[in-house]
Amino acid sequence: MSFDTATYQRMSARLDVEDIDFDAFRSRPLDQEALRCLRYMHDVESHTVCYLRDILVTRAHRDPEITSFLTLWNYEEFWHGDAIGKVLAAHDEQASTGRIAALRQRLPKGDRWKPVGFQIVSALTPHLTAVHMTWGAVNEWTTQAAYARLTRLADHPTLSTLLRRIMKQEGRHIDFYATQAGGRLAQSRSAQRITRWALSRFWAPVGTGVVPGTEVDFLRTYLFGDPDGRAMAERIDRRVDHLPGLSGLNLLSDAVAA
Ligand SMILES: [Fe+2]
Ligand SMILES: [Fe+2]
Repeated sequence: MSFDTATYQRMSARLDVEDIDFDAFRSRPLDQEALRCLRYMHDVESHTVCYLRDILVTRAHRDPEITSFLTLWNYEEFWHGDAIGKVLAAHDEQASTGRIAALRQRLPKGDRWKPVGFQIVSALTPHLTAVHMTWGAVNEWTTQAAYARLTRLADHPTLSTLLRRIMKQEGRHIDFYATQAGGRLAQSRSAQRITRWALSRFWAPVGTGVVPGTEVDFLRTYLFGDPDGRAMAERIDRRVDHLPGLSGLNLLSDAVAA
């Protein structure tokens, strides 16, 4: 796995949806399960800027390679959320600003202290960036797998076209985070120990703490609960196994089994 910042800067772009016929959902709507997934995905994609807030208060902001990536990553994720919002809107569902504002109002009170917590941990250890990059890799792998599963389960040509385009961009996010994580973990046994501890203790599927727990449970059962889904979760676990010092965590398999 490798990542070239200059290439990413050249290729990074707003998701192209100009030719997507969102009205196709009016004549052939998605089923309720697929729509429930898309609400979750819309909310999590739109929450990226809040994840960015938590990273930028740490010493990661001193690394220009990281900040260049995060700038473009945040932009691309914004348009993923916006595109999914258009699918919801075609089903006469609330999306974009109104839905996001309601979600932010419902965030747990502890959310406002997260930047303070990250600032303190970042002052105590130089390895928080390794944790963040590894966390990002796991979440991007999971996100891409979730879109692949939804593409298969929903079996809707317009949605498939849209999700394939999103997945292509998620692939570049994976390349960045996995390259950063691998490099940082390879350099330091302390980084490995802290990252291993943080993931085994605190990692939960992306969206946990942002959307209601019932929706997290629904998504992991619907997308990863059957044999194909479990096999995909195991594949992600094997990718995590290949990162220095992180073998045997079984994060995804355990989350699906839970
Ligand atoms: Fe995304
Ligand atoms: Fe992504």
